[in-house]
Amino acid sequence: MGHESINWDTLGFDYIKTDKRYLSHWRDGAWQEGTLTEDNVLHISEGSTALHYGQQCFEGLKAYRCKDGSINLFRPDQNAQRMQRSCSRLLMPHVPTEQFIEACKQVVKANEHFIPPYGSGGALYLRPFVIGVGDNIGVRTAPEFIFSIFCIPVGAYFKGGLKPNNFVISSYDRAAPNGTGAAKVGGNYAASLMPGSEAKKNSFADCIYLDPQTHSKIEEVGSANFFAITADGKFVTPKSPSVLPGITRLSLIELAQSRLGLEVVEGDVFIDKIDEFKEAGACGTAAVITPIGGISYKDKLHVFYSQTEVGPVTQRLYKELTGVQSGDVEAPAGWIVKV
Ligand SMILES: Cc1ncc(COP(=O)(O)O)c(C=O)c1O
Repeated sequence: MGHESINWDTLGFDYIKTDKRYLSHWRDGAWQEGTLTEDNVLHISEGSTALHYGQQCFEGLKAYRCKDGSINLFRPDQNAQRMQRSCSRLLMPHVPTEQFIEACKQVVKANEHFIPPYGSGGALYLRPFVIGVGDNIGVRTAPEFIFSIFCIPVGAYFKGGLKPNNFVISSYDRAAPNGTGAAKVGGNYAASLMPGSEAKKNSFADCIYLDPQTHSKIEEVGSANFFAITADGKFVTPKSPSVLPGITRLSLIELAQSRLGLEVVEGDVFIDKIDEFKEAGACGTAAVITPIGGISYKDKLHVFYSQTEVGPVTQRLYKELTGVQSGDVEAPAGWIVKV
């Protein structure tokens, strides 16, 4: 699809083949010089560990068009570091932070026409990934790897403003207590496909997972982190080794403290104590901030602020975060990398 035929107002979160993607191979103990290519098909060995043993990880981040026409990447160093941790967990070679950020910039520049205009609420979503490839059959780390980044233009998550969504507590687990929950690896998402699909079939936005050991504490949403606001104005978010450390979550913690003056609590969020919260939300690169209207647990819907309106603290957090990302609000030092 050429960028000329894109309707920025109706863009969703769907695959669109953009012009160029970055591709680099790991061979003989080093990353080869990356190149930009028009070909969106990977040619890999049938024995690739990525296909059989899930040896792969990925990232997600966005580039934003600013009012002055410049382009912002939001905290790409954090994505680079998280990908390094995911690679370590799955015995894959690190992509150095510098190479990661440089590759992001190259992909954004090469697909600049696909960046949704300032004010449309959309952004260019970047999908970096590392996969184990090469001839192999045993359960062991791959002889070769591919690091690639492609991008797609995505629309505003909420057309016509923030709206609360209902979520349901899942009876399934997405990750084990000492498993790979904190790494952004495909296996976690494979495990979440069925529970997520069931939740959507039942008209929920997605499901929320409880801690896999005791099933008594909220961990996270299928593809976003959880936060809540207490009656006395504290920002609360779960802390657990099986939760993905989201960069939006990290940023909201910092903005809640430094810009909104809220006390932040990272700790246990017991499912039978959610009455204590006035507001709740899901946060992530794709979800931005999705207000949670209600949570269904044991066939009862627990409503937070309202089923139709967004709470005031959630609204302030949303404004601050999206303002920083699109360059309308001054960013904390080091958060924005200009392309
Ligand atoms: C399982 C999961 N949790 C949390 C997040 C949020 O992470 P981030 O804010 O870095 O996008 C994501 C990705 O968006 C995710 O897939």
